[in-house]
Amino acid sequence: MCGIIGYLGYRDAYPILINGLKKLEYRGYDSSGIAVFYENGYTLYKSKGKVNELKKKISSIQIKGTTGIGHTRWATHGGPDDVNAHPHVSNSNELILIHNGIIENYHAIKIILLKNGFTFKSKTDTEVLVNLIEFIKKKNKLSLEEAVRISLNEIVGAYSIAIVEKYHPERIVIAKLGSPLALGINEREFFIASDPIPFLDYTKNVIYLKDGEMAILRKGEELDLRKIVDNHKLSPIIQELQINLKEIEKGEYKYFMLKEIYEQPKTILDTLRGRLTDGLIWINGVESNKNIFINAKCITIVACGSSWNAGLIGEYLLEELARIPVEVEYASEFRYRNPILEKKDTIVIVISQSGETADTLSALKLAKKKGVFVFGICNVVGSSIARNVDAGAYTHAGPEIGVASTKAFTAQIAVLVLLALKIGKYRLSLTEYRYNHLCQEFGLIPEKVNRTLEMIENDIEKIAKAYYNVNNFLYLGRGINFPVALEGALKLKEISYIHAEGYPAAEMKHGPIALIDENMPVVIIATKKGCYEKIIGNIQEIKARKGKIISIVNEGDVQVSMLSDYVIKIPNISEELSPLLTVIPLQLLAYQIAFIRGENVDQPRNLAKSVTVE
Ligand code: AGP
Ligand code: GLU
Repeated sequence: MCGIIGYLGYRDAYPILINGLKKLEYRGYDSSGIAVFYENGYTLYKSKGKVNELKKKISSIQIKGTTGIGHTRWATHGGPDDVNAHPHVSNSNELILIHNGIIENYHAIKIILLKNGFTFKSKTDTEVLVNLIEFIKKKNKLSLEEAVRISLNEIVGAYSIAIVEKYHPERIVIAKLGSPLALGINEREFFIASDPIPFLDYTKNVIYLKDGEMAILRKGEELDLRKIVDNHKLSPIIQELQINLKEIEKGEYKYFMLKEIYEQPKTILDTLRGRLTDGLIWINGVESNKNIFINAKCITIVACGSSWNAGLIGEYLLEELARIPVEVEYASEFRYRNPILEKKDTIVIVISQSGETADTLSALKLAKKKGVFVFGICNVVGSSIARNVDAGAYTHAGPEIGVASTKAFTAQIAVLVLLALKIGKYRLSLTEYRYNHLCQEFGLIPEKVNRTLEMIENDIEKIAKAYYNVNNFLYLGRGINFPVALEGALKLKEISYIHAEGYPAAEMKHGPIALIDENMPVVIIATKKGCYEKIIGNIQEIKARKGKIISIVNEGDVQVSMLSDYVIKIPNISEELSPLLTVIPLQLLAYQIAFIRGENVDQPRNLAKSVTVE
């Protein structure tokens, strides 16, 4: 993971770097650092912890220079301390590098460098790379760009890098393989960042470097884009970004996560806009590949984390409505499993909010290599996954800044519902009545999510106050709401650090029931349609062991409510659409508990928003 930033132009680099790093903190916040260059020298500062720590360290110092690079880290090699923080400097102090990714063969290279007299201060793979570049540069008397290019051809792994030479602050060399890198371009200036948000205030013209590309940025000169493998010169493709800056501000909310939870009526509406009108579903990427969807014999959904949970909901939907067998796989397992994929009639669906998750991207590439049609469900427009799929549908949830996914998750479910209904309609696997009824209810979802938020607010606060101090939580659901239980547990553990597990309600008796005592709150999704009677049985089993029941039920519910310690009521809706409502109280409960515990909700420890390393 980690975020990288850079500037080369005529403005003071420091404010651009430090403000940009704040915007990239979602990618990692173990440590941060900057290097700003002036003629024949540079100022370098690093600090453990968040960007504010770095800012504090520098506050009384004037940093001058119009070339600079910066980094906010999510540690892969070496602990999160000052020494391992980037930028890393070569042995001669002449080369300064920032890096996002992993150099897999760093150990072998380090041994060669040690034999050649190099020494290392940090435990990082990055310090090995900067010294490899120095070694190759000095040995062969090469320019920086040529030394970078030759070194990168020796590297196994993933990287986006920016490197500057002490005596040549008029030039930055950047390169990319696997990790994202956006280049903002204005007259007489260049901006480098892991995503374009840090430089949106300055330019909307962006070039996304492709894997295997490098660029030499020279002050006052045209961009020089090349292929790493053979130095072949390339013509850059400049895109104009359409992002509304308001979307990336917290507004009146304490945390982005809370804002994003409350945005869901709008984001779901945005996801449906132009796609669901009067019972007609239109998804470009499906329409133009109609026959592939009609003839599909099986679908494999590949994703990680919350997106994987959404994939499980997709499995229920696609099997139920489109009657196609579906497998859901963790991208990290799928990519190393030599999966059996029948080229002819299999579809792989990859789901990713960021569109940059390394495991999902590799799974996508593997599926494509096997000749399978890959459909993407992504939130970030222009992201690596979005650019690599055969077809896809954006979720249109807008930028999601909170590390814990909320609005992107519900937008993913909304796309999966659209997909299942559309394919079901093509394949005539659901009746006209059921299709029309679900489309009609689907149109009401944004309003129902709004009502859900109004209905649950007070109850959630009470429950959070009652249980914020416990050590364990259990989440139960059945059918399509089992993955919602998984998602509820994931949300809680991510941001509050309380251990939580999600289970299919009936599986509880095969193990987790042993955990239940009077201190164990059990959140149970018990909406009217999904095996309601069976769930009452499960609740009785918990009560008999003195567990505490927090139930999510429909308005008008009596039976489950009577058995529960706390009841959260939500509007009625068809079972197929229910995850869009049942997940809302679970998101808010996790938020409230983490908030009462005083945790940093948007930036939970050890996590990062975009996992661009394996
Ligand atoms: C969600 O709350 C998590 N932070 C995480 O599990 C996330 O869903 C996962 O890393 C996948 O990310 P993606 O959707 O951007 O691919
Ligand atoms: N591997 C580098 C380090 O541990 C970069 C990490 C990253 O990209 O997150 O410092």
